[in-house]
Amino acid sequence: MARILNGKEFAARMKENAAQGVRALRTCGVHPRLAVIIVGNDPASEVYVRNKQKTCEELGILSDHIALPEETTCAELLACIDELNADEEVHGILVQLPLPAALAAREEEVLSRIDPRKDVDGFHPVNVGHLFIGVPGLRPCTPAGCVRMLEYADITIEGANAVIIGRSNIVGKPMAHLLLERHATVTLCHSRTKNLAEIVRTADILVAAVGRPRFVTADMVKPGVTVIDVGINRIAPKQLVGDVDFDAVSKVAGAITPVPGGVGLLTVAMLMENVVQAAKVQTEERGGR
Ligand code: GUN
Repeated sequence: MARILNGKEFAARMKENAAQGVRALRTCGVHPRLAVIIVGNDPASEVYVRNKQKTCEELGILSDHIALPEETTCAELLACIDELNADEEVHGILVQLPLPAALAAREEEVLSRIDPRKDVDGFHPVNVGHLFIGVPGLRPCTPAGCVRMLEYADITIEGANAVIIGRSNIVGKPMAHLLLERHATVTLCHSRTKNLAEIVRTADILVAAVGRPRFVTADMVKPGVTVIDVGINRIAPKQLVGDVDFDAVSKVAGAITPVPGGVGLLTVAMLMENVVQAAKVQTEERGGR
């Protein structure tokens, strides 16, 4: 049976880091503040956003919930972002994805409007570029949280064969860079990859981010592999499963994250660290105020 990588345990350490950062900023008279914009009423997004706010509250971070109606125009959304960019009290801005269909085609324009210093999702092209060339900066929360967990769990990244399934901008692509900068040998697979199972079997670290329930099966993994399951698939009203067949794969793997109780918790904890980091950088830029 594999070691279960309990998201709650690692998230608690990350949240403690964030809480310490909040305390330090407050002694300088700065109260970290996150603004979350949600457009429309996607039920899954509403759950994620509530979670983010609850965690802010827990750590003493101020949070603004800006709920805009489904029919919000792009110009209105951009104006809302401009206002938050200009507000010195707001340190982090997050636009919850996915955007409603009418705005989805302009996602890139929307994300690029956020001041890169306040882009706590790490999705702005400037922050993506910093990750690509290895300059410190705000990193996307899900992959950064996963990598932090690997470090806390003492799982060796350097020299490891890391295989990622899924090439999204939110998870797969940034994960590839984060692992590469820690000296893993990275293979990024996707829906058109040939011989997927064969490649997945070479993995010492496997990241599944495909969005297909129980896609990774036990015959696809090498004994002892570390499996990070980023998938959250609702297969029944009250049943969430990952992209990995947990019951079978956990008998072969060396370590594995459960769903729920794994990566989801790390994402929110990393977001809190990003808000604190953003607040610190902005405070330093203003001369410590
Ligand atoms: N939707 C799913 N994951 C994310 C995320 O990490 N950030 C934002 N803004 N939206 C998401």
